[in-house]
This record gives sequence, C-alpha cells and structure tokens, in this order.
Amino acid sequence: MFTHRPYGRQPFSRRPTVRLLTFPEARVPAELRSQVWQLQESAWPSGAPDPGLSHDPALAPESLLLVDGARVLAALDLLIKEIGHDGGRYLARGLSCVVTDPAERGRGHGGRLVGAARAAVRESGADLGIFSCDRPLRAFYQGAGWAELPGAVLVGGTPEDPFPTDRPGFDKVVLADLCTERARSAVWAHRRIALHPGTVDRLW
Ligand SMILES: CC(C)(COP(=O)(O)OP(=O)(O)OC[C@H]1O[C@@H](n2cnc3c(N)ncnc32)[C@H](O)[C@@H]1OP(=O)(O)O)[C@@H](O)C(=O)NCCC(=O)NCCS
Repeated sequence: MFTHRPYGRQPFSRRPTVRLLTFPEARVPAELRSQVWQLQESAWPSGAPDPGLSHDPALAPESLLLVDGARVLAALDLLIKEIGHDGGRYLARGLSCVVTDPAERGRGHGGRLVGAARAAVRESGADLGIFSCDRPLRAFYQGAGWAELPGAVLVGGTPEDPFPTDRPGFDKVVLADLCTERARSAVWAHRRIALHPGTVDRLW
C-alpha cells in the first residue's frame, strides 16, 4: 500500500507524468527504494549494499519522492522528534537525504521537493521544521521558503556524544520553518538547539 498525495495545486513539472509520492520509509516499494538507495549512494557513497532503511525507525522516517512514471527524479526523507528548547517541548521535523538524480539537476526538481516537504511539515501539525545544510546550499532551501536561523547551532548525536553543526571543519547553517504560534514565541536564533536524534541519524 502506498499513498499518492500531490501537495497544493501547482504541477511538479511541465511533464504531466511527474508526481509526488509519499510513503513511510519502510513501505517504499522495492522498485522505487532501489533507485532511492542509488541516488543516496551517488551523493554520499558508503559502498555498502542497501540496508533497506536509511534512517532510525524511532524517528518515523517518511519518504517524499518526485517520480516521472516509474523513475525517481528526486527524493528526501522527513524525520520527526520531540525536542526540549527554551523551556518548552516542541514537535520537530527535519529534512534528510535530499537528493536529485545527477542527470536531472538544475531543472527545479529539488526546489519543488523541499517546498513540498515544507508544506508537508505544516500540514502534519508539527511545531517546526528544522535541519542544517552546508552554507552554499542556503539559497537553495531559502528559495523554497525555508528561513535561516541566524547564529543557531543544531546539536546532533546524543547528550553523551554530541555532534553539533559548529564542530571544527563544518560550515553549516540552520534552516527552519516555525509553524505554530508556540514555536514562533520561542527564541531559536543564536541558540544551541538540542536535537539529539541519536547515533544513526547523527545530524538530520
Ligand atoms: C542540492 C540538490 C538536491 C538540488 O537539486 P536540483 O534538482 O538540482 O535543485 P534545483 O534545480 O531546484 O536547483 C535549485 C538551486 O540550487 C542550486 N544548487 C544546487 N546544488 C548546489 C550546491 N551544491 N551549491 C550551491 N548551489 C546549489 C542550483 O544551482 C539552483 O540554483 P538556481 O535556481 O539559482 O539555478 C542536488 O544538487 C543534489 O542532489 N546534490 C547532492 C546531494 C546534496 O548535497 N543534498 C543536499 C543535502 S543538505
């Protein structure tokens, strides 16, 4: 079983066969999953065979795929976790493994997908979407409506073995969409944000 859910009314491509598909990661059909793994390997080579799941099931990974017919053009995963911050508890969702087929880059597929992910985060009722990226990609995400949290540091890993975005050698920015009034009332910029997604997805 899988759901086919176009977000909003805008077409995802001039090509009429391009659709957005959404699945729990564990339920991505095998013929699509093998393509997703190949795309992830093309961007972040591990040399390992497909483990079947790229993420910690505790983070309830959901896969968003832009497909043309049976071909995956671009993919990303949304993860979810409750976080404590600024005296409150917030339901946070984050983007992970954002990738476009190298042969299809520069055609707007990635931008459309990260925009659809922002809409999905809002529709899910989460307090915020939050994730980090390398600084050169900031404009790519901003183009889809994600906003930089200036000076913010996202602390991944675990409390015992933290993995922050300001570790030496990293040049990362934190992007977010504050969806609820509660989230907008908290202070996020220039703060260390304890995400702590664990040891599998050390930083999303
Ligand atoms: C980043 C990525 C998903 C963009 O996909 P895409 O389908 O080419 O995206 P779009 O066509 O919507 O391009 C959007 C813009 O991002 C820019 N962009 C893409 N990759 C970039 C990079 N590494 N550095 C700077 N800008 C980049 C494009 O040039 C384009 O800019 P323009 O609109 O001014 O021409 C794709 O380049 C990719 O898969 N990269 C490898 C994996 C990766 O780095 N993922 C992001 C992890 S945070």
